[in-house]
Amino acid sequence: MKMVIKATLCTLGVGLAGLAEAADVSAEKVEALIEAAFAHAPAEVRGRVEQDETLRVCTAYRDNPPDDQWDAILEREKARIVYPADGVLMGDWKVALKEANNGYGWRMRDIPERVVGGNCYACHQLTEAEVGYGNLGPSLLGYGKDREIDEELIVATYNKIFNAQSVLPCSQMPRFGSNGFLTPEQVRDYVAMLLDPESPVNK
Ligand code: HEC
Repeated sequence: MKMVIKATLCTLGVGLAGLAEAADVSAEKVEALIEAAFAHAPAEVRGRVEQDETLRVCTAYRDNPPDDQWDAILEREKARIVYPADGVLMGDWKVALKEANNGYGWRMRDIPERVVGGNCYACHQLTEAEVGYGNLGPSLLGYGKDREIDEELIVATYNKIFNAQSVLPCSQMPRFGSNGFLTPEQVRDYVAMLLDPESPVNK
């Protein structure tokens, strides 16, 4: 049984400290396996295998950090938010909606010219029309319809998408902007996708 679990861990190649514990394998062993699996990857990719301070804390506390660490994550991740140069935080919902189902990006041998997608559907319901979606995150259907759209909400939505952990430490949602996955301009398009009354999300 242990062999099977170990093999699975190798295949997944992600930080599965919880599983490791259940299988009586030390977190260090898992980290070493993951590192070995990426030993020949380009340096740029290898860097991503290393956890940053926030992920280290989340792993150490099984995503349930004590208050002081919780506050430290909020502060650290908030400091990593970057806004578009012109300060406009609502973009074009049509652009984002086109890319919300696109999981392209951050693979080895990416074609730089291709647009990196937000892949929101992998974890969220967004529209009535798209029935293929994941449910790791809450449904975002009607997100703008259910809320009063003011400056505060626009900034909060931008912050959430740019860096989910600036709002909720140890969230399973990727830190899209801070990790260089989406640009500030792309993030504001996603803000519009969620808040614009004309967006199918709110129809
Ligand atoms: C890997 C899964 C995953 C992906 C991909 C993902 N999210 Fe999330 N998202 C979550 C989870 C889990 C939560 C709930 C926990 C939290 O609030 O961080 C969440 C919460 C949110 C919330 C807050 C909802 C609320 O009611 O407070 C918003 C807004 C959001 N996501 C937008 C997006 C957008 C836009 C995208 C695509 C650019 C996206 N998410 C991609 C997992 C994901």
